[in-house]
Amino acid sequence: MDATALFKMTYGLYVVSAEADGQRAGCVVNTATQVTSTPPRVMVAVNKENVTAGVIAAAKAFTVTVIDKTADMPYIGNFGFRSSATYNKFEHYGCETSAVGSPYSPEHVCALLACKLVDTVDVGTHLLFIGDVVDAQKLSDEEPLTYAYYHAVLKGKTPPKASSYQA
Ligand SMILES: Cc1cc2nc3c(=O)[nH]c(=O)nc-3n(C[C@H](O)[C@H](O)[C@H](O)COP(=O)(O)O)c2cc1C
Repeated sequence: MDATALFKMTYGLYVVSAEADGQRAGCVVNTATQVTSTPPRVMVAVNKENVTAGVIAAAKAFTVTVIDKTADMPYIGNFGFRSSATYNKFEHYGCETSAVGSPYSPEHVCALLACKLVDTVDVGTHLLFIGDVVDAQKLSDEEPLTYAYYHAVLKGKTPPKASSYQA
């Protein structure tokens, strides 16, 4: 098997966030996608060891923001290489609250999807959180950042907890 075939799959980059019991959490994911249009429904795959997974489960809601091309590596590092357990990720890029009560940062993102959790599927290392989109907003006219652009232009790395990580 040629596992590098999986590198041919294309993705965007997103921050998925939630808040429950006073704990705010959020992390970068490439594994977010719309799965149905009636009703509008999306899913995100989050590693069980990420703080964000437990907070989404407790909140029964999550918010996806679509990262745009104005994002730089410090921004990706803020959400994608640190732990919400010990660090406030919503301090440096602004903090607003979505329709489902999730914190989100409005900088470097071009759209927002606020979702109510409707199902959770255990896929091993990760949980698939499936949510109904109850509010959606365009936040800017910037182009969405793709995973290919992240690798080619920002020279970004894929950390071990990403669904697409290969050792
Ligand atoms: C480019 C990139 C893609 C990522 N994709 C995913 C992903 O699809 N799913 C996931 O669970 N983590 C993914 N991660 C890793 C999380 O963002 C990272 O483990 C984060 O620090 C977790 O934060 P938390 O513990 O506060 O939830 C990705 C990180 C980066 C930088």
